[in-house]
Amino acid sequence: MTGYKGPNRVFSGIQPSGGMHLGNYLGAIRKFVDMQHTHDCYFCVVDMHAITAWQDPKKLRDQTFHIVASYLAAGIDPRKAAVLHQSAVPAHAELAWIFNCVARLGWLDRMTQFKDKAGKDKERASVGLYTYPVLMAADILVYKATHVPVGEDQKQHLELARDIAGKFNREFEAADYFPSPEPLIKGPGARVMSLRDGTAKMSKSDPSEQATIYLSDDADAIARKIKKAKTDPEPLPSETAGLENRPEASNLVGIYAALSGKTDAAVLKEFGGEGFGKFKPALAGLVVEKIAPIGAELRRLEADPGHLRSILMDGAARARSIADKTVAEVKEIVGFVV
Ligand code: AMP
Ligand code: TRP
Repeated sequence: MTGYKGPNRVFSGIQPSGGMHLGNYLGAIRKFVDMQHTHDCYFCVVDMHAITAWQDPKKLRDQTFHIVASYLAAGIDPRKAAVLHQSAVPAHAELAWIFNCVARLGWLDRMTQFKDKAGKDKERASVGLYTYPVLMAADILVYKATHVPVGEDQKQHLELARDIAGKFNREFEAADYFPSPEPLIKGPGARVMSLRDGTAKMSKSDPSEQATIYLSDDADAIARKIKKAKTDPEPLPSETAGLENRPEASNLVGIYAALSGKTDAAVLKEFGGEGFGKFKPALAGLVVEKIAPIGAELRRLEADPGHLRSILMDGAARARSIADKTVAEVKEIVGFVV
């Protein structure tokens, strides 16, 4: 679908299902901050996605404010980018229903995230967890977003969104109505791994506190977690080929590279031959320098939920003006009485 003529637009979202961590920052938010200067941007807190797994209602609102505060603390300017929560824009859910009737069961059956999250007992997973990627496609396409900055784990979901856009355009003979949204994944930090297991993704739901560096961690907590991070007994190699089959070493070098703006090769040029006793303190110093100030600002912002709420209300109003128009057009295309 190369004929789409609409404006470039950016959409992305993060679930309010726990604390924001270094993976969210490097894989997603840091890209958002750069893009707000060059694109029309919509950054969403996807609370409807979060409830596909159980969320305590007493915590969900605070978790939503936590994501908003993280966006702002990392440098998103809500006067430039619209910052909104998904449930405040009903058009997402309306379009998702229509997309449920476009997407095929076979497509969803292939989604690896559903298999991972549902685990062995898939009969007990929510129906929402299964159609999760369809709602995600609606999030993106209700704004006709052309670019979607995300971490590596969202690649398959983006492919599904492209498939849905293509099938909708073809079946309803609405050539190029929806764009084919492009994932923006590449770059250092697209896949940050757990500090306790270099083969598992760093995630909000890791049972071990030590596995994850949260944006809210203070300097002491960051230094402690890096000191305790799992490693192997070998010194660092001088070339990237030497990182193969060393997932923990590879992850720590990758984090250093992502935060310093250097390549893995340049980091190894500096630290090759050194043991972790030398590398870890350097890494801890860098993470503290880059992340601790965001944490301090995050805590300051979280103390004023009224302010965060007013940002969300303003963002939702701006978002609705675009999203409602798309849904009205789609109803017309599908043949509903409007
Ligand atoms: P989530 O926390 O699952 O809502 O993810 C929000 C955003 O952060 C998405 O763009 C993810 O791809 C990205 N993300 C989550 N975990 C990681 C990670 N460990 N490394 C890189 N990006 C991540
Ligand atoms: N599924 C994404 C995640 O967990 C969150 C998300 C929901 C999203 N809707 C989106 C990301 C739309 C990008 C665009 O990481």
